[in-house]
Formats: sequence, structure tokens, C-alpha cells
Amino acid sequence: MTDIRELLLSRIRDVADYPEPGVMFKDITPLLADPAAFTALTDALAEIAERTGATKVVGLEARGFILGAPVAVRAGLGFIPVRKAGKLPGATLAQAYDLEYGSAELEVHAEDLTADDRVLIVDDVLATGGTAEASVQLIRRAGAEVAGLAVLMELGFLSGRARLEPALNSAPLEAL
Ligand code: PRP
Repeated sequence: MTDIRELLLSRIRDVADYPEPGVMFKDITPLLADPAAFTALTDALAEIAERTGATKVVGLEARGFILGAPVAVRAGLGFIPVRKAGKLPGATLAQAYDLEYGSAELEVHAEDLTADDRVLIVDDVLATGGTAEASVQLIRRAGAEVAGLAVLMELGFLSGRARLEPALNSAPLEAL
């Protein structure tokens, strides 16, 4: 796992002052462009999906879609997108949340999750935890159980883990 972590971290580019001054953006496009790194990441996340007994993978817009969809295919599970407000055409559940910069609302199709589902949430970055926390709330409100949250990286100085752990209710939070 250490070798995989080193490979993945070496393919993440720090971009200073993006999208606004004072923010250090973690750009995963070099990782996505490297098939060995992208495959290693997909395999590692799929192993978490299998280990946690997930029945569905939820990806968080937008980079959680890119990472979560191949994980779902690799693990043989369905993929559910949690989207920014106004993008899903069917009946939705909505949850407001705060971002590292700004605020927004997330939505999920209510019919995509049932009481029989255990959901692994996949995203690229855990920062303040606002996005992930809103997703946990959406999944619970849809009647499903949260099997865990898996992210490529965690920005520890923003304390997202401390914010999320009560919401996760002992479901694992895994950062590679
Ligand atoms: C980023 C990132 C996570 C979220 C983490 O997405 O991909 O989803 O922020 O931040 P938080 O832990 O403070 O909530 P963003 O909202 O920028 O959306 P995008 O992927 O559509 O650009």
C-alpha cells in the first residue's frame, strides 16, 4: 500500500491560488492520465467497497464521478451520482452544505437508493467535510445505510475527519 500511496501522491499536482487566492488546489488530472496510477487507485477503492460490504457506490460531483464509476464497475456494483442542485431530472432529495470556498446544495435521485442498500461514498478530496457530510445525510434520508467514505486524499488541517466521524456513526473513513 505504501508504494501505491507514493505512486498516487506523485501524480497529484498542487496548484496555488486556484480557484481563488489562498487556496491550494489538488489537481488529479495527472493521475487520471496515468493508466497505472488510475488503475491502482480504482483497485484500492474497489477493495474498500468489497471489504465494507457495499451494495452501491455514490460518487460526488464532479471528481467523485470520475473515481467512483470505475470502482462500481470493478466491484460489480451500481453507481449513483450525487449532483449539484438542478442537474438531475427526476424526483430528488436536496441537502445544503458549506464548501471550503462558498456554499451549495447537493441532490440525489430519491428512487436510486433503498433501505436494502449499503453505500460507499467516493470522492477525490476530503477538505472541510461539508460535501461528504451532506452526502451522508442524503443517503440516510433516502433510507439507505452508509457503508463508508473513501477518498483519495484528506486535507488534515481542515479537520474534515473530526466533523464527519460523528455523522458516519462508526462507518469507516478511508483516505489512501
Ligand atoms: C471539491 C472536492 C470535494 C469537495 C471537498 O469539490 O472534489 O468534492 O470539494 O470539500 P469539502 O470537504 O470542504 O466539502 P467541489 O465542490 O469543488 O466540486 P467540483 O468537483 O464539481 O469542482
